[in-house]
Amino acid sequence: MNKITIIGSGSVGATIAYTLTVMGVASEIVMIDINNNKALGEALDIRQGTPFCSPCSVYAGSYADSKDSDIVIITSGVARKPGQSRLDLAQTNVNIIKSIIPNITRYAPDAIYLIVSNPVDILTYTFCKCSGLPQSRIIGSGTILDTARLRARLSEYFSINQLNVHAYVLGEHGDSSFVPWSLANISNIPVQDYHSSVEGSNMLVPPLDFAEVEKYVRKSGGRVIERKGATFYAVSVSVCHIVKCILTGIDTTMTVSTMLNGEYGIDDVCLSLVNIVGHKGAESKILLPLNDTERASLVKSAECLKEIIRQVEI
Ligand code: LAC
Repeated sequence: MNKITIIGSGSVGATIAYTLTVMGVASEIVMIDINNNKALGEALDIRQGTPFCSPCSVYAGSYADSKDSDIVIITSGVARKPGQSRLDLAQTNVNIIKSIIPNITRYAPDAIYLIVSNPVDILTYTFCKCSGLPQSRIIGSGTILDTARLRARLSEYFSINQLNVHAYVLGEHGDSSFVPWSLANISNIPVQDYHSSVEGSNMLVPPLDFAEVEKYVRKSGGRVIERKGATFYAVSVSVCHIVKCILTGIDTTMTVSTMLNGEYGIDDVCLSLVNIVGHKGAESKILLPLNDTERASLVKSAECLKEIIRQVEI
């Protein structure tokens, strides 16, 4: 029984429910929203397509219906408006997730929790502090989407399959995120050496502008919001990838937001490092060999998040 509860039936929550249904990874999906009518409408719309999908029971429910969920996904919260930063939403969405925690953990104390609402690192930290559940079962979507955006951008630049691009975005899911370029590679060739390593490659290609690529990744969410008012497809399919790795139980590496307990000398903050995610959640991290500049970027990102944590009432 792969039972998943999604709290929040807005664009992200509804798209996650739809994507999970089409992917066929869940056998039961409970949709909870403060606006129950919205949850009912989204569940009904998705359910009416299930004859063309693997069997899946999709319905709107209450917290009590989340009983024995394997995974709970939290998408509730105020979404960014054009020009807003994710951190601008902090206190409002901290208050919302604090109101959710006692209700959901009462019925699903053994679930793995995926936090998607923004600012995701602050809300993941809030969930860790207020729920009392094991940290390994509390995962924020973090920079999994940023890493996907980075790989897509490098794939375009090098005209190579995204599967051949190995690069990560670490830190905050936001403006202090960074790329450890010393580790970025295409099929084990460092990105800065790739063109010269390919026979007959066009050496006239302009060199990769690392700063421009990092800015592209950081601003991608805001760029979509400016044009269509919100982002929901890419983040939803990213979250469904996390769900699939948990439910299949195949340990998979990914950059997601989890609590740090001394890694790189950083503790008591949630941000994205490379985690190993499997059927028990995020049980361990891979400590990449960051150089001094990259370590400094990670510490700076942690400080940015800690400053917000100091300002909000958790
Ligand atoms: C984005 C949202 C998920 O980056 O923060 O699209």
